Amino acid sequence: MSARTLGLIMNGVSGRMGVNQHLIRSVTDLDAEIASPANHIFFDTATTQMRPTLLEKAIAAGKHVYCEKPIATNLAEALKICRLAKQKGVKNGTVQDKLFLPGLQKIRMLRDSGFFGRIFAVRGEFGYWVFEGDWQAAQRPSWNYRTADGGGIVLDMVCHWRYVLDNLFGSVKSVSCIAATHIPERVDEAGKRYPATADDAAYASFQLEGGIIAHINMSWAVRVYRDDLVTFQVDGTLGSAVAGLTDCMIQPRAATPRPVWNPDQKQTIDFYDSWQKVPDNVVYENGFKAEWEMFIRHVVEDAPFHHTLVEGAKGVQLVECAHQSWQERRWVDVPSLVI
Ligand SMILES: NC(=O)c1ccc[n+]([C@@H]2O[C@H](COP(=O)([O-])OP(=O)(O)OC[C@H]3O[C@@H](n4cnc5c(N)ncnc54)[C@H](O)[C@@H]3O)[C@@H](O)[C@H]2O)c1
Repeated sequence: MSARTLGLIMNGVSGRMGVNQHLIRSVTDLDAEIASPANHIFFDTATTQMRPTLLEKAIAAGKHVYCEKPIATNLAEALKICRLAKQKGVKNGTVQDKLFLPGLQKIRMLRDSGFFGRIFAVRGEFGYWVFEGDWQAAQRPSWNYRTADGGGIVLDMVCHWRYVLDNLFGSVKSVSCIAATHIPERVDEAGKRYPATADDAAYASFQLEGGIIAHINMSWAVRVYRDDLVTFQVDGTLGSAVAGLTDCMIQPRAATPRPVWNPDQKQTIDFYDSWQKVPDNVVYENGFKAEWEMFIRHVVEDAPFHHTLVEGAKGVQLVECAHQSWQERRWVDVPSLVI
């Protein structure tokens, strides 16, 4: 076996995502690195707003590109980089980490085994309290709460929900979304008060191919009383499942309790009792690492790779449709993307 050297340009790895989830190293002269024939892949985890420009530069220089989500803050820019990558024939990919979560991998396994029968509903609950920054430091960067800096929970999370729903349940056909800024003022990293211009919560319904209805709440202004920071309940004719980041509980049809509505009587059923835990029969790798390895194989061995920039553009498209739905107070259909 011969060894092959891959030159990587890691941009923005001093950030939260870069440090925690990707490599700890940073590039100082980006233009020189992009121009250098020693480099083969440009990997961007920096600020979303700069991403399309930087990817464009790297693609124009013939580099393969891999990046964090969202691939752009708007669909026009997302499509532009998809087309450029296609034209130049470079390999491309974007982070779609939620699909690699053990909890959602278990849902996929249950789906493939036929456990659910016909799936008809999916409900997701995402979020936790992000401190305002006054009496306790905020645990997310302040740009997330400013629209002008690429913030907003719809932009941040709906692009995740697109690939989760598309890949696990059915492609998203339509969206209805209402968002809000529940906490209008926050305190930044320097201790300065600033107006929170971006949405910090959104409540969205989705119609999927095959008639499945999905509803996902997402919020940075919610206190957690559930098993995990994100949970998905999937209901089917033969069984239901509730997955968190790691664990997944199931209740098959035959183990479904029979509650009768009677507000005069204190509840006698322990509803958690009849659920069963899906065992960890396989070892689940860190999702960011697993997907990155798949991408490297795609570049080096031409192995198949599904999480392309076009898949990322679909996420940005759903973000735009959700924003439109919110602004116009109506359902918005999601057209097929033409690259
Ligand atoms: N996949 C996920 O679950 C996930 C989670 C959080 C963030 N993200 C994405 O990762 C990206 C970064 O988010 P974060 O939370 O790490 O933010 P962050 O503010 O912690 O990090 C951003 C980094 O980009 C750097 N940066 C800013 N402008 C730059 C420039 N001009 N050139 C080079 N570097 C620059 C900053 O110095 C910082 O190191 C965003 O696009 C975000 O959407 C993805």
